[in-house]
Amino acid sequence: MQKLAVLTSGGDSPGMNAAIRAAVRRAAYHGVQMFGVYHGYEGLMKGDIQEMTLGSVGDIIHRGGTILYSARSEAFKTEAGQQKAVEQLHKFGIEGLIVIGGDGSFRGAQKLTEKGFPTIGVPGTIDNDIPCTDFTIGFDTALNTIVEAIDKIRDTATSHERTYIIEVMGRDAGDLALWAGLAAGAESIIIPEESHDMNDIIERLHAGQRRGKKHSIIIVAEGVGSAASYAEAITRETGWETRVTVLGHIQRGGSPTAMDRMLASRMGAAAVDLLLEGKKDRMVGIQNNRIVDVDFNEALSQKHQLDLSVYQLARTLSI
Ligand code: F6P
Repeated sequence: MQKLAVLTSGGDSPGMNAAIRAAVRRAAYHGVQMFGVYHGYEGLMKGDIQEMTLGSVGDIIHRGGTILYSARSEAFKTEAGQQKAVEQLHKFGIEGLIVIGGDGSFRGAQKLTEKGFPTIGVPGTIDNDIPCTDFTIGFDTALNTIVEAIDKIRDTATSHERTYIIEVMGRDAGDLALWAGLAAGAESIIIPEESHDMNDIIERLHAGQRRGKKHSIIIVAEGVGSAASYAEAITRETGWETRVTVLGHIQRGGSPTAMDRMLASRMGAAAVDLLLEGKKDRMVGIQNNRIVDVDFNEALSQKHQLDLSVYQLARTLSI
């Protein structure tokens, strides 16, 4: 292969730029040309494609977002859209495509492979919800953003002796809520993967109060519902003053942590190596700190498994 391309798709995540940089520079190292596809699959269908040079990825390793922009495309889900995309790739003489994104983006990549076009996926999403990889690019940065926010909320929660209910992203996965809850010492963590009982949550709040705790923090994963509804229920049952914070899209921005830059650099380079080895229809992952690659079908047919031992640990430490 002499010409490859890279695109970012779906919700952006901190570290995507570091992955783009790694892909461009690894390709250059192998003497291969790399093209950037702008605006995800939308841009691919329109031929919004430009060659990337060593310099075009300078000064981006520390930047959040994605210099290639991202989009969620409905048109690409159609047969006609996929056909257009393949035609554009052929027009530019591109022989392999790296897709940085989440599971929806990988399903799109699979469609291209079914049409005979080699693709490799790199997991980039703050949600950490992709099977067959321990971590996704952006999870660590989002986690640190959330923990920093909770630390700040804790100060004011103590001053006013209030209960805070904090809603975090993660789509259907509870990883961000769970890890942030443990790292920030939350009283309760409400995630989709584990059932919860309002009586238990309230009993834990009362137990904390009896011990003289000045504040309480409850983390709610967006996948279980709104923080506001939990706040209402707690106020109704206890008569206490509650406040709700929905962290929202600040969780998706910011300079990537060193861990995310490392992960992105390793995964971006591995994706290039895989294409040059003639591999396709696969996803790069990290398992036990080793870079691996797995078949898209294997990854996409499974459900992401959250580590429930972390949940149990958080419960035992927040008594
Ligand atoms: O998948 C990343 C994510 O940030 C989810 O955590 C969240 O549910 C969703 O994207 C939000 O999407 P949008 O940016 O389209 O509002």
